[in-house]
Amino acid sequence: MFKKKGLIVAVVAALLMALAACGGKSTETSSSSSGGGEAKKKIVVGTDAAFAPFEYMEKGKIVGFDADLLDAVMKEAGLDYELKNVGWDPLFASLQSKEIDMGISGITITDERKQTYDFSTPYFEATQVILVKEGSPVKNALDLKGKTIGVQNSTTGQEAAEKLFGKGNHIKKFETTVVAIMEMLNGGVEAVITDNAVANEYVKNNPKKKLKVIEDPKNFTYEYYGMIFPKDSELKAKVDEALKKVMDSGKYAEIYKKWFGKEPNMARLTQ
Ligand code: ARG
Repeated sequence: MFKKKGLIVAVVAALLMALAACGGKSTETSSSSSGGGEAKKKIVVGTDAAFAPFEYMEKGKIVGFDADLLDAVMKEAGLDYELKNVGWDPLFASLQSKEIDMGISGITITDERKQTYDFSTPYFEATQVILVKEGSPVKNALDLKGKTIGVQNSTTGQEAAEKLFGKGNHIKKFETTVVAIMEMLNGGVEAVITDNAVANEYVKNNPKKKLKVIEDPKNFTYEYYGMIFPKDSELKAKVDEALKKVMDSGKYAEIYKKWFGKEPNMARLTQ
């Protein structure tokens, strides 16, 4: 009898410890439950939360346009999920190994990526721009010839730079866009090529750093962001359907206005 009691105490203690360990891990992620009652598998969504205003860390939480849009879409689809800050390069590797079920991270839909992954329908229109210090003589992309350019590794910014000037040491690759911008502030690169909304947000949030954004529609084409899935994921159809509803209902426009202060151009997005 005494032995049995001891065992029960030990089991309860072990259970409590396991619970506490789970609770402690949840600080880096934000999650939402869709309700509904029955225990469903949580969909793990990966992101690189160093890309404001799309995803960034605030008080230990991942916030941004993408975080809000994902939440609206997953609620609409009735899917329980957890958004996880896994980092940019690991995001793609984790999709392939199926450690994560999908990703949202301002990811441009490209033909090359489409060979390995599936994308949702487009949810945002973007383009590359050049970020330089205010006094820079650079006026367009071609002025970057012979200069060192900073990009986030494996992004369409890197692709755009290589298309213009070829691969090589003149293009410096960084783990995050924020680090690439820091490097420019420290004089390590003369310009950063990155997504327009991200460059604009950085300039707006850091007026003292005296930076400017240069647009060059002749040399940078339009890009569309999509949520990303492993190939043939059954999630894609559910997410597409929910995304359409979120766009049609005006919820998308509401989220867009919250983050960009203006109405979205829905006609261009859904054409
Ligand atoms: N749109 C660019 C691309 O897909 C950059 C995205 C970077 N996103 C991020 N969260 N760091 O290549």
